[in-house]
Amino acid sequence: MEKDVNVAIIGFGTVGSGLVKLFEKNRPRGINLKVIIVKNLNKKRKVAFSNLSSDVKEAIENQGIDIVVELAGGCNPALEYILSSIKNGKHVVTANKAVISEHGMEIFSAAERHNVNIGFEGAVAGAIPIINPLLEQLSFGEIRSITGILNGTTNFILTRMSEGMDYSTALKIAQEKGFAEADPAFDVSGKDAAQKISILASLAFRKWIRPEDVHCEGITEITPTDIGYAKDLGYAVKLLASAKKTSAGDISMKVNPALIRNDHHLAKVNEEFNAILIEGTPFDEYFNVGKGAGEGPTAFSVYYDVLKIADMIRSKKTRKIIFDGPGTKIADHKKVRTEGYLRLYLSHFPGALYNALGVLVRHKWNVKSSIQRGGMDNEVIFDGVKCLPNIITHEPLEFGTIQQTLQELESLETDKGKPVHGKPFYMRIEN
Ligand code: HSE
Repeated sequence: MEKDVNVAIIGFGTVGSGLVKLFEKNRPRGINLKVIIVKNLNKKRKVAFSNLSSDVKEAIENQGIDIVVELAGGCNPALEYILSSIKNGKHVVTANKAVISEHGMEIFSAAERHNVNIGFEGAVAGAIPIINPLLEQLSFGEIRSITGILNGTTNFILTRMSEGMDYSTALKIAQEKGFAEADPAFDVSGKDAAQKISILASLAFRKWIRPEDVHCEGITEITPTDIGYAKDLGYAVKLLASAKKTSAGDISMKVNPALIRNDHHLAKVNEEFNAILIEGTPFDEYFNVGKGAGEGPTAFSVYYDVLKIADMIRSKKTRKIIFDGPGTKIADHKKVRTEGYLRLYLSHFPGALYNALGVLVRHKWNVKSSIQRGGMDNEVIFDGVKCLPNIITHEPLEFGTIQQTLQELESLETDKGKPVHGKPFYMRIEN
């Protein structure tokens, strides 16, 4: 007779509740959920479980437990829980993107030394299978690039804004729906997506890449005006996370809002959905879409890992996750060439457009389209000066040149006053 596999969960929040529901509904044969570790035994909970404990040793030091599911979140004390569980010979499943992106190397090498398995499918993109495919089937291919929509909150906000809702209302609804992090600044700044793309890139390129290596721009400066002009030009606006091998052999790591062609796979991904596009040989393209946040989608991936590791325990298999590095050469984002979209608020006086174009000409911008519409609906007043938005798209330029141009536009002065008001706003165009 096969030995039963016993599971302990640390943390009984959103994902923990979803996991308990899955255990109760499916009653997986030979896998027993023994104990859930909580901070507060007296807290009222939406889902009941018969054996709660406030002593984490009941999970990490309990001889009868085979798999510890860490759902405490954050790095501290989650890292300690994971490393202690591993040292005690336990297999670990986690949905914690912070601890994996910051401490993955340490966790995987501890797991290898102690001959145990780590599952972290729930750490990136909720229900979308991506960690296991990268560790298994896709690892036999040669990956050139990963491009994804990896944050549900920002995708939800951009979807609502494209229908005319303002940013703050859309963010509030995303919070109410439970998509956002405890501090939503983490979502809208792009940091959440940076942690996730650093994990995916590390697995794809087999060298550890840290979240700090990711050039990060968020969505807070995007306005409905930008989304409207992007639509007119045939693009959707998305927060993209990408990891791409460059021709120089290094890896460009970015999170940034971008205009993507309406007929691109990723342009059609709306609401809180996440999506991942992987390009490489010989498989060409791997594209997957699913819900990236919330109780059900994340619990589903955690549950899959528990079942998979239970099978590996029974067949006495371990999956080693081994990396070189750190030491990956990360591309200098200033040197990466890109097309883009620029929105300027130009003073409505003679010569303002000429002054602004002078800066672009100095930096050798090759303009593709330029749109300026007059009329009351488009006017914005800055410091008592009537301004109109001017939208420019251009042929590829080095990002460093673009940044320099934006600075010069912002500080431009003439004897008639400032031709450009507010901060020039720029987004890349991904074709
Ligand atoms: N706040 C995250 C998101 C949750 O919006 O995608 C899943 O990591």
